[in-house]
This record gives sequence, C-alpha cells and structure tokens, in this order.
Amino acid sequence: MANSPSAHAGQPRGSLVVARHLTRLIGSATTGQRIIDDVSFSIPRLSMFAINGPSGSGKSTLLNLMTGIDHPTTGEIVVGGDSLAVRGENALARWRGRHVGIIFQFFHLIPTLTAFENVLLALEFGGGGGLPRAQWRERARACLASVEMASYHARLPGELSGGQQQRVAIARAIANDPPLIVADEPTGNLDSRAAASVFELLENLTRTGKTVVYVTHDRELASRAGASIMLLDGRIVDRQRRHDLDGLEL
Ligand SMILES: Nc1ncnc2c1ncn2[C@@H]1O[C@H](COP(=O)(O)OP(=O)(O)OP(=O)(O)O)[C@@H](O)[C@H]1O
Ligand SMILES: [Mg+2]
Repeated sequence: MANSPSAHAGQPRGSLVVARHLTRLIGSATTGQRIIDDVSFSIPRLSMFAINGPSGSGKSTLLNLMTGIDHPTTGEIVVGGDSLAVRGENALARWRGRHVGIIFQFFHLIPTLTAFENVLLALEFGGGGGLPRAQWRERARACLASVEMASYHARLPGELSGGQQQRVAIARAIANDPPLIVADEPTGNLDSRAAASVFELLENLTRTGKTVVYVTHDRELASRAGASIMLLDGRIVDRQRRHDLDGLEL
C-alpha cells in the first residue's frame, strides 16, 4: 500500500518522498538555465517539511516536480515507493488526484461553485479516494467540518474571507485522503491571525496520516518544520532536520 511504511528497494524507510539528483533545465542545453540544479532530499512520512529560499530560487518548480506537474531534465523523484517517471501524463493526472492534495497561495477555488461543490468536484477528479459515489457528499461535508467550515458550505468563494477560503482549499486537498499535501505559500496571502490558524490546521494533518510539504518565506513558520531545505539559484544551500527524525538517512 502506498501509505504504509514499506521497504521499497532504494527508498529509505520512513520517507514518503525521495528526490535524487534532480535537475531542471530551461532552454537549450548550451544556453539554458538550470532552475533546479542537482537537488537531492527525502521527506519523512508524517512530517511538516519546509522549502525556503528567495523569490526565483526554484521553490514552486520543485513542488511541481514533486507532484508530476513538471518533469525533471535528469534525476528521479519517488513518491510512496513509485517513480513518477514511469507514468504517462494521463496516468500522472489520475495518480495526482488520488495521492496529492495541492494548496495554493491564492486559494484557486472555483468562483462559481459553493464551498461544498468545490470539495465535491475534487472527489469527482480523484475518484472519491476509493469511496463509493454514494458517500461523496457525506465525505465533502466531513472535510468541511474538519476545517470548521461546515456552516459556510453554501457560500461562494467570493463570500468568504481569505482565511475561510484557504480552509475550504484544505478541505478540498484532503477530500480524496491523499498521503501527500503540497502547499505553495499557503499563508502568504493571509493576515497573521488567519495565517496562524491555517498553519495549525496543516500541522494537525500530520496527525491524521498526512505528510505536508510547504513553501514559506516566514521564518517562524519555517522553524516549525520537522525538516527543511533552503534553495538558492536552484541549489540546496542549507538543510535542517529535527533530532527525532535523525534516524532517517538521505
Ligand atoms: N516555465 C518556465 N520557463 C522559464 N523559466 C522558468 C519557468 N518556470 C520557472 N522559471 C524560472 O525558474 C526560476 C525559479 O522559479 P520558481 O517559480 O520555481 O521560483 P520560486 O522560488 O517559487 O519564486 P517565488 O518565491 O517568487 O514564487 C525563476 O528564475 C523563474 O523565472
Ligand atoms: Mg513560487
């Protein structure tokens, strides 16, 4: 099972994501730019994993490689024991729907759908996370309740505050019960109070079986990660790992 800590060949026990020597070249081989340059790291299961670095350092590109939205020029990315490189685009899209929940800085909810319908749509795309269709509406309601948005289910995104929209986006991200949650500056567009409560929700997800990868510029939020990497010009220039995660090798 993708979610169990199994001993896949070459994958350190306890890591959900392993990136090996990732490089992403833009443009031609001679005049091009390496926007990701020989990046290797592993992400412990059930951890909060932060990616830091200045604007343009490659953070979003790295997230896109991790979710199969973009592809490395060289190197390999393994999620839950499976290499993303072996899948075609259609298979990758199906895999993403089931295995990854994505959260954006600007929420990206569909403006013409209610909070409830936005979550239900994710279940349509992800096949309900294995649940029979008859249970999807109940699942959508439960996801909204878990982020304390049950009473806002009939609101359109435009009728919600930024913090509330991001809560709905979290409900959408967990709808299909994926093991991996990926968040690009999830609190970057929120005031400090809304940011704190959204971040707390993300932290809580690690207690419900999720591994959360997040990009942040905020030093305090970065310091709450179990492990982190810092990028500069597409390279890792610093990495941190809390002592209780030390047993996991790269
Ligand atoms: N499709 C692309 N074509 C050309 N250049 C790209 C492409 N995608 C990203 N880049 C370049 O790669 C570098 C890294 O971009 P990326 O968006 O990953 O940075 P980032 O760390 O997420 O920045 P920010 O903090 O501003 O979001 C930048 O120099 C960017 O201009
Ligand atoms: Mg970015």
